[in-house]
Amino acid sequence: VFRNKLEFFAAAKMSSSFPSPTLPEIAFAGRSNVGKSSLLNALTRQWGVVRVSDKPGLTQTINFFKLASKLCLVDLPGYGFAYAKEEVKENWEELVKEFVSTRVGLQRVCLLVDTKWGMKARDFELIELMERSKTPYQIVLTKTDIAFPIDVARRAMQIQENLKNNKSIIDPVVMVSSKSGAGIRTLRSVLAKIARF
Ligand code: GTP
Ligand code: MG
Repeated sequence: VFRNKLEFFAAAKMSSSFPSPTLPEIAFAGRSNVGKSSLLNALTRQWGVVRVSDKPGLTQTINFFKLASKLCLVDLPGYGFAYAKEEVKENWEELVKEFVSTRVGLQRVCLLVDTKWGMKARDFELIELMERSKTPYQIVLTKTDIAFPIDVARRAMQIQENLKNNKSIIDPVVMVSSKSGAGIRTLRSVLAKIARF
């Protein structure tokens, strides 16, 4: 499914402008700058369709992309240290929370965690919400290329241990690097199962 052409089809700043859910959806959530947009590019090998930036807070709307009529990939704005006004940040956070807990057709949330920083309070908040709404989610460790393999493995184990009693989590933690390509094929095959055939 990831060989299909990636097509941007909607952006939403508020829930009333979410497109109607017609395809199975996978959303990418996580702190600002964790590598959500880069991962979408790496998964689809279609660089440039999803914008990436060094500056945290680039993605400021919920962006919807289609892979033919099979799958919808959703790039969420990051939470955390965006260069934005307080009220704008709050609005994004509320929007992301609403999306992950109420969106019909949402089959999976990939919660991205930076290998170097690990999980933070905001990540746990989002997990709490997804547990309550029974939204299936999985943890994806990003930027593994800038850490030692032993530290990547340790981080994955620590997260697995922290979340072992959770119900809606899909194991195991997947470790990826959009830069080196490590783990991308694994994640692709996990997510491809969600697509419509
Ligand atoms: P927001 O849209 O602000 O929430 O950020 P994002 O999570 O979409 O992050 P984005 O993909 O824009 O990447 C942020 C920065 O991290 C960019 O400078 C990327 O080049 C870098 N980056 C992303 N993935 C990787 C990776 O696997 N390895 C390394 N070393 N850098 C990465
Ligand atoms: Mg982004």
